[in-house]
Amino acid sequence: MASRRPLQSVLSSLSLNRVIWSGRRSFGAVPQATLPSSSQELISFEYEHSAHNYHPIPVVFSQARGSSIWDPEGNRYLDFLSAYSAVNQGHCHPKIMKALQEQAERLTLSSRAFYNDRFPLFAEYLTSMLGYDMVLPMNTGAEAVETALKLARKWGYEKKKIPKNEAIIVSCCGCFHGRTLAVISMSCDNDATRGFGPLLPGHLKVDFGDAVGLEKIFEEYGDRIAGFLFEPIQGEAGVIIPPDGYLKSVRELCSKYNILMIADEIQSGLARSGKMLACDWEEVRPDVVILGKALGGGVIPVSAVLADKDVMLCIQPGEHGSTFGGNPLASAVAVASLDVIRDERLAERSAQMGQELRNQLLQIQQQYPNYIKEVRGRGLFNAVELNSKNLFPVSAYDICLKLKERGILAKPTHDTIIRLTPPLSMSLEELQEGSKALSDVLELDLPKMQMEKPKKISLDASNICDRCGRDL
Ligand SMILES: Cc1ncc(COP(=O)(O)O)c(C=O)c1O
Repeated sequence: MASRRPLQSVLSSLSLNRVIWSGRRSFGAVPQATLPSSSQELISFEYEHSAHNYHPIPVVFSQARGSSIWDPEGNRYLDFLSAYSAVNQGHCHPKIMKALQEQAERLTLSSRAFYNDRFPLFAEYLTSMLGYDMVLPMNTGAEAVETALKLARKWGYEKKKIPKNEAIIVSCCGCFHGRTLAVISMSCDNDATRGFGPLLPGHLKVDFGDAVGLEKIFEEYGDRIAGFLFEPIQGEAGVIIPPDGYLKSVRELCSKYNILMIADEIQSGLARSGKMLACDWEEVRPDVVILGKALGGGVIPVSAVLADKDVMLCIQPGEHGSTFGGNPLASAVAVASLDVIRDERLAERSAQMGQELRNQLLQIQQQYPNYIKEVRGRGLFNAVELNSKNLFPVSAYDICLKLKERGILAKPTHDTIIRLTPPLSMSLEELQEGSKALSDVLELDLPKMQMEKPKKISLDASNICDRCGRDL
């Protein structure tokens, strides 16, 4: 577990010759500090000096290549998270690093107050690759989602003639689209919303995968609904795959009620699910596509919103933007990242390797049906759902800690789901290493953990969403 030692004990464990800032701010000579370098010291240092907005698995990344990570002590791990699918191409891919280095030496930032000689090439490449007229570049995923929401509202007022300030966005229960205020206003995660109100008005919720429920909402509020925002596969919710035909129904309903179909493909897109976009599984074309994560090849943040002209040109100069959006460094990296996805046929690879991984995991499920409730996924976008009752008092987080001890890095989502989303370049042998580690944890570690862990019953087990009242 990540250390929670108080500051004094952290400092006493560090080298004595380090220099500490004496006041809140010092303007003297830069102190020659001996910085912490062991994993434990670094974790403690971060805990003392950084906000506690994450609860990481206690492993420190120091170097990485492909699917391998090394910590400061030189221990090697296999990455089964890929920075939430931001590293689809593998860590520090040589072609992407080359693009980064070459561009970094020429030009990094123009701002959009001027033109640069890289963004137009990126814009043309991405739009023709995905078949849209135009792109609006941003940096992080949440910013791109915000962009899509604003675009939908603007289109709603200008083209659909929704009365002023009455535009509605419909989104799905269990969705995850980022952390900004507008975005958490759609969230069903109480941790993400409690204490951050007031949330933004103008949002309605529907169950993910429920086309009948969606039509009911469209019927009732359709003339005020600007867009339906959804993940084609819900990632943070635990790799939830909608029923067959759902994406087609969404397409038909959005067309019927003149509502923008907005696919957040930030995690599911760019080859992760075994297709370039997860919407390709049902061959549907959303009106708006949101990309992020792997667009920057795991190197720098690059996100984008794609749409055709009738939608995109609703936004005019001065109405939206970002200082770093479309910067030449990001553009060069994004072009290289897309090149790698195309040249290495990562979508096909993901489909094939994902099937292999699921076969391995299904075998483990057959061995331990009491512990593994379900194995699901598309391509290398997979999850193992554990049976919390039979696992008790052990959680998915505890299992991930044991996986880490066996050299496999995975992250739980909710209390019972382990997401397995390795780089799309991971070899078959490496996938097998991951599956074997899971099997070993269930066979060798779990019985001991169940005996040793105190059997405390959590009093706040309720997952009832504050916003929609659903038990998620
Ligand atoms: C589907 C989806 N949308 C949006 C985001 C937010 O992206 P970012 O963390 O880059 O803001 C994420 C991040 O996990 C995501 O999975």
